[in-house]
Amino acid sequence: MKVKKAVIPAAGLGTRVLPATKSMPKEMLPIVDKPAIQYIVEEAVNSGITDILIITNRGKGLIEDHFDRAPELEARLKNGGPEKQKILNEIISIAHKANIYFVRQKETRGLGHAVNCARSFVGNEPFAVLYGDDVIIGKDPACAQLIRAYDEFGLGVVGVNKVSKKDISKYSSLKVEPLHDNCFRCTDMIEKPSPDKVMSLYSILGRCVLPPDIFTILDHTEPGAGGEIQLTDAMRTLARRDGMVAVNFTGKRYDMGNKLGIMKAQVEVALQHPEIGKEFRAYLKELCKTL
Ligand code: UTP
Repeated sequence: MKVKKAVIPAAGLGTRVLPATKSMPKEMLPIVDKPAIQYIVEEAVNSGITDILIITNRGKGLIEDHFDRAPELEARLKNGGPEKQKILNEIISIAHKANIYFVRQKETRGLGHAVNCARSFVGNEPFAVLYGDDVIIGKDPACAQLIRAYDEFGLGVVGVNKVSKKDISKYSSLKVEPLHDNCFRCTDMIEKPSPDKVMSLYSILGRCVLPPDIFTILDHTEPGAGGEIQLTDAMRTLARRDGMVAVNFTGKRYDMGNKLGIMKAQVEVALQHPEIGKEFRAYLKELCKTL
């Protein structure tokens, strides 16, 4: 069955980016002029996804507003010159990128718990999960790379990259063996491993494609690291039972959940930006001389 649905969990508290995220969702933090979550929605749409469920919670209304029409703003832009017309078209297109739905996670009980809120939206189909604070920019959308692997192997798929030995305990670690090219068979995994539990330096970074029976597994998944219901723990059950596929995806991943990740995204995307890229590069070169 074709993967047409995606879930974007965006109901975390974002405590690593306080105070910016006290009243603003971290998923709305801009990378130059576009909120992080718009990059993620565009990646899903460019991967063939038609229906997207965003998991929100209290105080995340700004995300809903962003994907809605904005009649007053549109009316003002309509009366402007050709430059404003271009922006108007862009603003309207945001509301029509996909069928976007919202559901609230009523308690912040972890990523696994958030994904479990998508059960009735997903029904009996495979679906993609794109973590709301992981922006991946590349020619071949990361989500599309995972969907191709799902089509090929018919197993759950996780998007992975290698992380450093020093950082692996902040992420997850996977037991993998090569299949072909950048695809690996994955038979076990662990969330936030202590050094003696590391299985490899491949870690899940923000994307997966899952079969619908993950929901039954999630129902029986006990709270894990941090006292939260971890999606990795449910996927471990799936990997041990059926096997999964790990795709070492291409593309640059920016962690919008921490301050350094946000700054790297800003600088690198600004350097490529059609409007300000050239000027920003010149500015940065001058600034670097003073460092
Ligand atoms: P994080 O692990 O970064 O958690 O979530 P967090 O609470 O957002 O951030 P910190 O650690 O307090 O700074 C990874 C993804 O899972 C979502 C987040 O919104 C983020 O996109 N998430 C996390 C939920 O939707 N619900 C949860 O209960 C936890």
